[in-house]
Amino acid sequence: MAAAVAGLDGVTFHDLYEAYPDMHISVSKEQELLRRHDTIVFQHPMFWYSSPAILKEWQDLVLEWGFAYGEGGDALRGKKLLSAISTGGPAEAYQRGGSNHFTIRELLVPFEQTARLCGMEYLDPFAIQGVSRLTETDLASEVARYRARIQSLRDDEKNA
Ligand SMILES: Cc1cc2nc3c(=O)[nH]c(=O)nc-3n(C[C@H](O)[C@H](O)[C@H](O)COP(=O)(O)O)c2cc1C
Repeated sequence: MAAAVAGLDGVTFHDLYEAYPDMHISVSKEQELLRRHDTIVFQHPMFWYSSPAILKEWQDLVLEWGFAYGEGGDALRGKKLLSAISTGGPAEAYQRGGSNHFTIRELLVPFEQTARLCGMEYLDPFAIQGVSRLTETDLASEVARYRARIQSLRDDEKNA
């Protein structure tokens, strides 16, 4: 997924684990990056029905009162947020009666509500599922689907 979008024109790819291998996140740098972009994508594997720890740390530090919410906290207002995830579990597991009981959208509710609190529009999540069982051909077409989604978001912004 990273390789599919990292080189796209008009898209900034920012790998948190690469930037902050010790988890010491620069709040000012991250806030500046956020200010410069209209659409933010949280791209990550699903870990325990949520994100890897560094993205939680990022939220805890970067989404400050007075920046992302609260008095004067309107830096993200009007921007869009997309969750783009991969899951080990197959799509059929993520539904009522499936082994994971809840849909992806339901499991990602904390991200959705975070976006709302910050005045952002939360987009319908993108997911590539059942990753360990995908053939190389399946994977290539799923990744192409992801690239197309990101390109269309970028083009919507350009034409907005
Ligand atoms: C610590 C950990 C927790 C995981 N939790 C989940 C989970 O809750 N649901 C799920 O479907 N897959 C889970 N997986 C599988 C990953 O989502 C899957 O391996 C990942 O999406 C594949 O992406 P990657 O090739 O970048 O690792 C977990 C994997 C790890 C290592």
